[in-house]
Amino acid sequence: MGDNKFVKKILCIGAGYVGGPTMTVIANFCPDYHVTVVDISQEKIDRWNSNDLPIYEPGLKERLLKVRGHNLFFSTDIDKGIAEADIIFVSVNTPTKTFGEGAGRAVDLQYIEKTARRIKAHARSDKIVVEKSTIPVRAAETIDKILHSGNNSVKFEILSNPEFMAEGTGIKDMETPDRVLIGSMETPSGIKAREELVKLYEHWVPRENIVTSNLWSSELSKLVSNAFLAQRISSINSIASLCEETGADVHQVARAVGKDSRIGPKFLKAGVGFGGSCFRKDILNMIYLCEHYGLQPVADFWQQVVDLNDYQMRRFVQRILRAMFNSVVDKKIALFGFAFKPDTGDTRDAPAIYISKMLLNERAQLWITDPHALENAKADLEGVDGQVTYEPDPYKAAEGAHTIALITEWEEYRNLDYERIFKSMEKPAFLFDGRNHLDHEALFQIGFNVYPVGKPARTHV
Ligand SMILES: NC(=O)c1ccc[n+]([C@@H]2O[C@H](COP(=O)([O-])OP(=O)(O)OC[C@H]3O[C@@H](n4cnc5c(N)ncnc54)[C@H](O)[C@@H]3O)[C@@H](O)[C@H]2O)c1
Repeated sequence: MGDNKFVKKILCIGAGYVGGPTMTVIANFCPDYHVTVVDISQEKIDRWNSNDLPIYEPGLKERLLKVRGHNLFFSTDIDKGIAEADIIFVSVNTPTKTFGEGAGRAVDLQYIEKTARRIKAHARSDKIVVEKSTIPVRAAETIDKILHSGNNSVKFEILSNPEFMAEGTGIKDMETPDRVLIGSMETPSGIKAREELVKLYEHWVPRENIVTSNLWSSELSKLVSNAFLAQRISSINSIASLCEETGADVHQVARAVGKDSRIGPKFLKAGVGFGGSCFRKDILNMIYLCEHYGLQPVADFWQQVVDLNDYQMRRFVQRILRAMFNSVVDKKIALFGFAFKPDTGDTRDAPAIYISKMLLNERAQLWITDPHALENAKADLEGVDGQVTYEPDPYKAAEGAHTIALITEWEEYRNLDYERIFKSMEKPAFLFDGRNHLDHEALFQIGFNVYPVGKPARTHV
C-alpha cells in the first residue's frame, strides 16, 4: 500500500510519556492519517518498536499493537520525518532549568529551541507546528522567530495544543477528553491552521469539547490548570495537618466541603503530597513568569503551594520518627509504592524520592516495593548513601520490618493479607498510610499501630 492513501502526514518529535500515547490514540482514531513518532534516543525508539514499551500506561499496548506498522511508525530519522510531514507536534521535554539565570524556576527551553532549528533546517514545504509540550507563555513567539529567520521561504503556522492527560489514566483522558484546547494566531492563516487541527480531533472528540483561543491564552491555560490542581492538593493537605492536631478527620471534612457544588468533590484527597514531572515544574514556571512581570504578590501566592507540598512530605517523615521513638537507625522500613501515582511506572519528582532520602538520612534500612517503578526507583536513588533493597514482592519487603510506609495507592495494596504481613513484622508494628488507602480499623484490629494522614492515629502503644 502506498502513502497516498493518507490525507495527511503527522510527525511527533519526542517519544516520551506524552508523544507515544497521544500519537497512538490519534493513529487509532484517524486511520486516514500517517503518524510517525521520532526521538533522539535510539533505545527509546527500539523499545517502542518492540514488545517491551518504554512506558507503562493502562490500555496503551493493546491500542499500539493495532496500529503500529499500519499508520503508526517509530523512528530516529528525524530529518526525513520533518521533510515529509504536514503537521509537526513538538512533544519534547521542558524541564526546570538547573543552571544559570532562573535556575530552579524557569523552564529549560533548549530542547524546544533545538527542535525548532532542526525543523527549519529540514523543512522544504509549508508546515503546521504544534506545541504539545508545556512551555512558558509567549514561547510560540520564540519558535516563530527561529522558524522564520534567515532566507527560508517555507511558511510555518504555530499552534498551541497543550496536553491535559494524566499519567495512569492517559489513554482514557485522551479518548474522552474534558476538552481539547487549540490556540492560534488570530490571523486568517492562523485560523485556517487551527481548523486543520480541529478536523483531526473531530475524528473522535465532539466539536463542543474542542475549545479554541488565541495562542497566549492556550499556553497559559495549561500552566493555570496544573497550578489549580496542585493548589487543591496543598489546600487539603494543609487542612490534614490541622485535623491531626484537633481530632477532626480530613476525609469527613473533604466530603462535607466538597458537597458544595461551587467547590466540588474532586482533588480533595489528603496524602503525602503531589509529585510527577509537571505540577512543581509548571507552577515554578508560572512563578518565574510572575516575577519577570513584577507581580511579586502573585508569585508568592503560588510559591506557597509548592512550599506546602514540601512541608507535607517532611511532616510525613517527622510523624514516622516521632511515633517510632524518635529513631529509625537500622530499622527496616518497607516503602509500599514508589511511582508518583498508581498505574504508572513514572517516578519523576515522586514524593517517594524525597521521603526515601529523608529516611536514609536518618539511617533507616529501606526496602522498596512497587509493581512497575522499581527500575526507575533504582535510578532515582543511585549514588544516595544508605541501605536500600528493591523487592517486587510486598510480603518479602515487609518481612521483619518495623514499619510499612504506604506512598503510592496501588490497588493491589488493598488486597494484601495483612494478618500474614503483621505476623512477619517486628513488634510493635507500625503502618503509615500516606494515601489513606487502606482499611485502618481492620489494620488496627490485626494489631498494627496505624497512622493515616489527617486523621487520628489508631495505636496500641
Ligand atoms: N508526562 C505527562 O503526564 C505530561 C502531561 C501533559 C504535558 N506534559 C508535557 O509534555 C512534554 C513532554 O513530556 P513527557 O513526559 O512526554 O517527557 P519525556 O521526557 O517522557 O519525553 C520527551 C522526549 O523528547 C525527546 N527529545 C528531547 N529533545 C529532543 C530532540 N531535540 N529531538 C527529538 N527528541 C527529543 C527525549 O529523548 C524524550 O524521549 C513536557 O513539556 C511536559 O511538561 C507531560
